[in-house]
Amino acid sequence: QGAVPFYGGHQAGIVTPVQDFICFAAFDVTASSLAEVRKLFQAWTAAAANMAQGIMVGQDDGNELLPPSDTGEAAGLTPSRTTITFGAGTSFFDGRFGLAGKKPEALQDLPAFGGDELRPEWCGGDLCVQVCANDMQIAFHAIRNLARIARGKAVLRWTQEGFQRTGYSDPAKATPRNLMGFKDGTGNPDVKDEQEMKKVVWADSADGSGWIHGGSYMVVRRIRMRIEVWDRSTLADQEATFGRHRNSGAPLGASGEFDAPDMEKKDASGKPVIPATSHFKLARGDGSAKILRRSYSYSTGIDHKTGQLDAGLLFVCYQRDPRKQFVPIQKALGKSDKLNEYIVHIGSAVFACFPGVKEGGYIGDTLF
Ligand code: HEM
Repeated sequence: QGAVPFYGGHQAGIVTPVQDFICFAAFDVTASSLAEVRKLFQAWTAAAANMAQGIMVGQDDGNELLPPSDTGEAAGLTPSRTTITFGAGTSFFDGRFGLAGKKPEALQDLPAFGGDELRPEWCGGDLCVQVCANDMQIAFHAIRNLARIARGKAVLRWTQEGFQRTGYSDPAKATPRNLMGFKDGTGNPDVKDEQEMKKVVWADSADGSGWIHGGSYMVVRRIRMRIEVWDRSTLADQEATFGRHRNSGAPLGASGEFDAPDMEKKDASGKPVIPATSHFKLARGDGSAKILRRSYSYSTGIDHKTGQLDAGLLFVCYQRDPRKQFVPIQKALGKSDKLNEYIVHIGSAVFACFPGVKEGGYIGDTLF
């Protein structure tokens, strides 16, 4: 399978059509100087540009007394549409590297939301790397080798793998379903509409910070689903939770997935057909705050304390300014979303994802 260009005006992996798998990693920087950070970014760029083309990392001179420069598990595999997307969190701008003055206004720690049960081990990070690919082994290989290259300069803080149905199982590429069985992504803005992406996704120097122009802000939340409770709820209750039909993905009261919802429609007893507390109605609000969601399901074995599955959604979204997009949406959801009976937010982080890299440049070079 083909390659997605690594170099370009924007980083790949944001408006790129969603691949089958994700391997996400947050790193903490251990380097103490800006010069070391720059070296890390240059080394990561060279490796990422190679891996996006299915080329091994580094060049071995055949010395049997040294570890090979590439760990080897992706040898001979096609690029599999690998994208590697880099970003920096609020803590990266805390003054250690003299970059405090460069922190964009829009990059702020998220406020606490209703229903949060965040655990420190699933939160934050100085840097993030989102690897997406149509092959999990290739995605894992990328994170592993980037962590290896970072030795002495940055360490892994948390990682999460994710999946969805693969392109092989669904060649028609219908909207994928999440682990609650509902189509997830229907209401996303159109990534082919450049004007819409400019409005919704791409950071703009007009908002304050010149170096981030053409980048984007990522919010990532590790949201555990109470799968066992969900599986015991009725179909009517499940559909009222999302405000959509399970089979078709249509808004309640409509028949096609992409039909416009009739939010005013009442049933025979006078109750709204699309409940006011339904996830989709609350998330849409008045339609003024939009985000581009790029989430994946996750399943990480069982919670040994309860015997229940530790599974859910690695929610990833991109936007031009989280203060005006993710935050108001999540405030509304945290307060009244019926979905909160079935989910709990365990992890959270926000990152300023760098603008695209020009050939010869390196990630984050507009920052230095
Ligand atoms: C819509 C699932 C968390 C924002 C939807 C839909 C589903 C869904 C099934 C309807 C189909 C669609 O448009 O994709 C979930 C699940 C979640 C979750 C299972 C957690 C486990 C979140 C979070 C946010 C969010 C944390 C943002 C704060 C949205 C938005 C829409 C949406 C903006 C589209 C609304 C519109 O049609 O305009 N979600 N979601 N969701 N969700 Fe979520």
